[in-house]
Amino acid sequence: MPENIIDLLKKNNDYYSGAKISAELGITRAAVWKKVIALRKKGFIIDALPSKGYRLVKSPDLSADYIKSAVKGGLWKDIFVYDLVSSTNELAMSLATKENLRADTVIIADSQKKGKGRLGRIWISPPGRNIYMSIAFNPGLDTRDATMLTLLTAVACAHAVKNISGLPVSIKWPNDLILSGKKLGGILTEIRADIDKVNLAVIGIGINVNMGREDFTDEIRSIATSIKEESGKDCSRNELVIEVLRQIEHFYNMLINLGKYPLLNEWKILSSTLGKSVKVVMGDETLIGLAEDIDDNGMLILKLDSGLRRQISAGDVTLLR
Ligand code: BTN
Repeated sequence: MPENIIDLLKKNNDYYSGAKISAELGITRAAVWKKVIALRKKGFIIDALPSKGYRLVKSPDLSADYIKSAVKGGLWKDIFVYDLVSSTNELAMSLATKENLRADTVIIADSQKKGKGRLGRIWISPPGRNIYMSIAFNPGLDTRDATMLTLLTAVACAHAVKNISGLPVSIKWPNDLILSGKKLGGILTEIRADIDKVNLAVIGIGINVNMGREDFTDEIRSIATSIKEESGKDCSRNELVIEVLRQIEHFYNMLINLGKYPLLNEWKILSSTLGKSVKVVMGDETLIGLAEDIDDNGMLILKLDSGLRRQISAGDVTLLR
């Protein structure tokens, strides 16, 4: 049974009669009209012709209704879209604490006042351009496997961008999405865990979608890029969010059903780090060596010039050649 008018109108590119909609949704035709008006207020452009019915002309660029109708029946329990938040990660964490936010809920914002990056950095989050989303997840994972969530999300995002735009995204350890050698996006996972079990994971995803050169700050202009910059075309944020959620669900099922090795393999295929000479900065310590592999927990195995190997759990990696 379709849940809403958007589902029905999306399935039919042409006009769909008010009578059919009212019969299929089990509501009166007056109620259909009221819902259409409410959807128009949310930014949907819906044509109405008395003789023919309704036709969906355009959906808002970032719409919870549109995204929900595309991913319903899957893993995701609820999806919220906000205009402006402090940080989607912070909001997801605080809602999970105060209001028992259900697991597998997605929080998306058009912009963030204090977007958080890794290692305490700021994530530039202007409105109308990009994807900033956080997933509150109860993954039922052992705490030692928590990093798998970040690797999984990076793999899912790389596939999603490729499927939507055709662009070949690679992953720089641990979780940077890379296009043409520049940063396209990143992932920030925050967890609440006991010694042995992850109780709540908030996976934050930032992807530069329709940023132009001029939108980047001077500081990151030469090292960051966007889908639009690389493809020369605008990219639908709705479709990209939908594909990211589908891919996360796909790779999560892979992890649960087949264990972590197929996923680690996917990560290695997409990696732009392994086999390269790299510099790793970890606080005050800087190491140079060969990024040889990742271990079963997603840690980077760095082979130093001395032949010694170091296992790196967190740090900033620069490719040297
Ligand atoms: C990185 O530094 O590479 C990670 C960036 C993660 C940014 C995203 S945007 C949505 C979510 N909310 C935040 O405050 N940060 C993450």
